[in-house]
Amino acid sequence: MAKKSTKVQSLRPEPTATLSRKSATKSPSKTNGSGTKPSHGKARGSEGKSAGSKPKVEEAVVNWYDHPEWYELGFLKETPKEAKFLEAVFKKHVKFPVTRVLEVGCGSGRLVREMARRGYETTGLDLNSEALKYCKKKLQEDGCHADLVKGDMTDFWFGKPFDAAFNAINTFRHLETEEAAVKHLECIASNLKTGGVFVLSLHLIPHDGDLWGTERWSAKGDGVAIRYALTVLDCDIETRIERLRITMNVEQDGRVSRLSDEIRLRLYNVDQLKSLLAKMKQFELVGVYDFWFDIQQRQRLSRNSCDTVLVLKKL
Ligand SMILES: C[S@@+](CC[C@H](N)C(=O)[O-])C[C@H]1O[C@@H](n2cnc3c(N)ncnc32)[C@H](O)[C@@H]1O
Repeated sequence: MAKKSTKVQSLRPEPTATLSRKSATKSPSKTNGSGTKPSHGKARGSEGKSAGSKPKVEEAVVNWYDHPEWYELGFLKETPKEAKFLEAVFKKHVKFPVTRVLEVGCGSGRLVREMARRGYETTGLDLNSEALKYCKKKLQEDGCHADLVKGDMTDFWFGKPFDAAFNAINTFRHLETEEAAVKHLECIASNLKTGGVFVLSLHLIPHDGDLWGTERWSAKGDGVAIRYALTVLDCDIETRIERLRITMNVEQDGRVSRLSDEIRLRLYNVDQLKSLLAKMKQFELVGVYDFWFDIQQRQRLSRNSCDTVLVLKKL
């Protein structure tokens, strides 16, 4: 059970091929022209009103994670592939059958639901009530079950250890300090069986990587089309914090809404990641992969590492 629930701000995820600096399409200027973040959910008015049938664009600043259905649409396509990869990891790196799994920072629960559908006894933990509410509703629609817990991924204890745990698409980078990252890994270790694995996906800064850029992608769902843009507003290698703006252009029922949010993520290069892992005597690094989620394609942690998936075995 989660012992504590503290407020945390949203984060930005990483779909299989997005948020890679290598794929950045545009380099914004270093200055952040956006000013401070207006209050959540407050409409800022409209733009783009023109003659003819062009719809009015409603603009609002929101918490991205408070809109789980729109958040997850951008990542749904890749979800079965990620789940299949997790199963391949279990098979390859765990000596006992994996039946009980935990996702930390599960958000809308796209992976929680997929793992539950595949028959795993699944638990999801997140700080965001809206995301958990949405996940519960979708599980009911699917006729599946998972345990959902509101809690902080730096402070939780479930009492019964899991066979495997995972932390997807940069959620880990929401932890802005080394102390928080260590606490998270310690919590994972205390909630895992010996020989169980923790699968951690995060973006690393490659040594020649472009720190600035905008990543764009789009997705269509039931009566809705969304264009996403993720722009680096500020990137400080001293404090190791990057600030990003996520914009969702949502077209639904003939209306267009442009929602935006700002998120902060901790930066890691390979040496910083290795230095963190060296502190964690409870884990052995048994596999490195990338965001292609291909179990046949083992990687090495190197100065060129970018979108990285670590498999850490609990000792
Ligand atoms: C990028 S989303 C990822 C959601 C999901 N894992 C996925 O792959 O779609 C990150 C999630 O982490 C949650 N989060 C951020 N910091 C957290 C913390 N300290 N404890 C628990 N959840 C946290 C956010 O509420 C958000 O739902």
